[in-house]
Amino acid sequence: MSNPVLDAISERRSIRSYRDEKISRDQFDILLKAAVEAPSARNAQPWHFSIVQNTGIFKEINREVSKILSQDMGDIFHGAPAAIFLSCDPVARWARLDCGIAVQNIALAAHSIGLGAVILGRPDPAFTGPRKDYFDRLLKFPQGHSFAVAIAVGVPAGTKDAHPLEPDRIAFIG
Ligand SMILES: Cc1cc2nc3c(=O)[nH]c(=O)nc-3n(C[C@H](O)[C@H](O)[C@H](O)COP(=O)(O)O)c2cc1C
Repeated sequence: MSNPVLDAISERRSIRSYRDEKISRDQFDILLKAAVEAPSARNAQPWHFSIVQNTGIFKEINREVSKILSQDMGDIFHGAPAAIFLSCDPVARWARLDCGIAVQNIALAAHSIGLGAVILGRPDPAFTGPRKDYFDRLLKFPQGHSFAVAIAVGVPAGTKDAHPLEPDRIAFIG
């Protein structure tokens, strides 16, 4: 069985190398429209999206994460020209899950228009560590929001194999 939705789901990969090319405003608009079209519990739409193209900010986050983890984490943005940071109220019951659904919509939309993307949890220590308030303000998170997840996006410079599937993690009951 094949159709455009199933094909996009099958073909998407986490892209970890990018060309030195910017993303256009039209492309961002497509990604963000897909994001806000995601379902959310009670239709709360609890997310906020901070779009970053200043790679100096990536360097600051890289430095902070490496410092907190006491090891050089390299470039956790994989050389991407842009990243979208999702934040939400961390105690709202479904907010982080809603952000997860929205970020996957971004990943699929990026793939569908020829962009690459990789969902990122690695920035998290910068947003939970001693300089949390600084980084929250830097990324203009709304009051009461915390980092949920990020996604790096850009024009892919390479791809990778599909991840191996684990069919024994599925059980049909009754
Ligand atoms: C919540 C979440 C956080 C992730 N964080 C990172 C990350 O910080 N850095 C990274 O390179 N990949 C990250 N990934 C990508 C996974 O490593 C990737 O999805 C997995 O290896 C399967 O590969 P695929 O996406 O190409 O199918 C993350 C994925 C998810 C869903």
